[in-house]
Amino acid sequence: MNTISEIHGCGSYLPKNFITNDELAEIIDTSDEWITTRTGIKQRHVAEKSEMTSDLACEAAKNALEDAKIKASDVDLVIVGTTTPDDTFPATAVKVQSRLAIKGGAAFDIQAACSGFIYALSVADNMLRTGQIDTALVVGADTLTKLLDWKDRTTCTLFGDGAGAVVMQGKKINNVKNPSGILSTHLHSDGNLRHILYCENNLAEFNSRRSIKMEGPELFRHAVTNLSSVALEALRVNNLSASDIDWLVPHQANKRIIDRTAKKLKLSDKKIVLTIANHANTSAASIPLALDVAVKDGRIKKGDLLLMDAMGGGLTWGAALVRW
Ligand code: ACO
Repeated sequence: MNTISEIHGCGSYLPKNFITNDELAEIIDTSDEWITTRTGIKQRHVAEKSEMTSDLACEAAKNALEDAKIKASDVDLVIVGTTTPDDTFPATAVKVQSRLAIKGGAAFDIQAACSGFIYALSVADNMLRTGQIDTALVVGADTLTKLLDWKDRTTCTLFGDGAGAVVMQGKKINNVKNPSGILSTHLHSDGNLRHILYCENNLAEFNSRRSIKMEGPELFRHAVTNLSSVALEALRVNNLSASDIDWLVPHQANKRIIDRTAKKLKLSDKKIVLTIANHANTSAASIPLALDVAVKDGRIKKGDLLLMDAMGGGLTWGAALVRW
C-alpha cells in the first residue's frame, strides 16, 4: 500500500506595519511608477525591530493548525524554511516547537533562501511517505527587511516580511484515482551562481553591517529559465501537461518573472495566484502566504492541481505538484 502526504490546513501572518511605494519614494530616489512597472509591487509589510522571524512563524503556524483542526500536541516534525533565523543557533523551528507546546519529535530549519518553503515541503513529504513521522508543521518565514540597506534602491524596494504554514499528514492510498496530496517535489541548486544573490555573514567581522547584494538582470534571466524548466520536470514525472494545472502558486519575487514563466508554460494569467502587489518578496514565506490567500478566498478548491515553484539565492530552485 502506498502512502501520500496531504496538506490538511494552511495559515499565514503579516506584520501590521507596511510601507507603500510612495512612502519609499520619500526616502530614496525611486517612484511608485518604477517599482510597479518593473516588479508589480505596491507595498511591503515590515516587522518591528523587536518582531522576529519566530514571532511571525508562530502566528502562521497557529492559524494553520486551527485551519487543519489538528492539535499542536499531534505534531512530531516542525520545519521552518528561513534565511533570517532569530539566532545563529538554535533553530527557529525549536522556538516554534517550544512556544506551541509541541513535545517530542524533531524540529529544524532549512536554509534555501526563497526556495526554503519548497525545500521544507519536500523534506516533510519524504519523511511522511516513509512513515518516519505522522504529522508535520511546515513553515516558511522570513524578515528579510532586517537585512536590507535602506539606501540601496536596487534591493530595498523588493522585499517584505511575513510567514505562511501548512500542516501535513501521511495517508494510505490503495488504487485511489487522483488522490489529494503532494504528487512530487523537485529540488535543484547551483552553488556556482552564489554571486548573483547573497548576504554575507562573515563571522570574522561579526558586528559588520550586512545587507543583501544582488545582480538583478542576471537573476531575472536565471529565474525564468530555471522555473519553467523545473515546472516542466514536475509535469513530465507525473504524466501531466501544463493545461492540467488549475493554479500556479509561485514564489512572488517579481510579477514579470511570474508572467514570463507562465507564458513559457502557456498558462493563462487567470490561473496565477498573485500576491506580490501587497506582500512584495517575502522569501520563503511567499508561497504559503499566497496559498493561504487563495484557499481562504475560495479560489483553490478540493481536487484542484497546484504547481508551486520558487527560486532564490544559492542559487536554489524547486517545484511541487499538489492535488488539493
Ligand atoms: N527605482 C528607480 N530606479 C531604479 C531602481 C529603483 N528602485 N532600481 C534600479 N533602478 C535603476 C538602475 O539604477 C538603472 O539605472 P541606470 O540605467 O541609470 O543605471 C535602471 O533602473 C535599470 O536597472 P536594471 O537593474 O537594469 O533594471 P531592471 O529592468 O533589470 O529591473 C529588477 C531591476 C526589478 C531588480 C529586475 O532585474 C528583477 O526583478 N530581477 C530579479 C530580482 C529578484 O526578483 N530578486 C529577488 C530575489 S531572487 C528571487 O526571489 C527569484
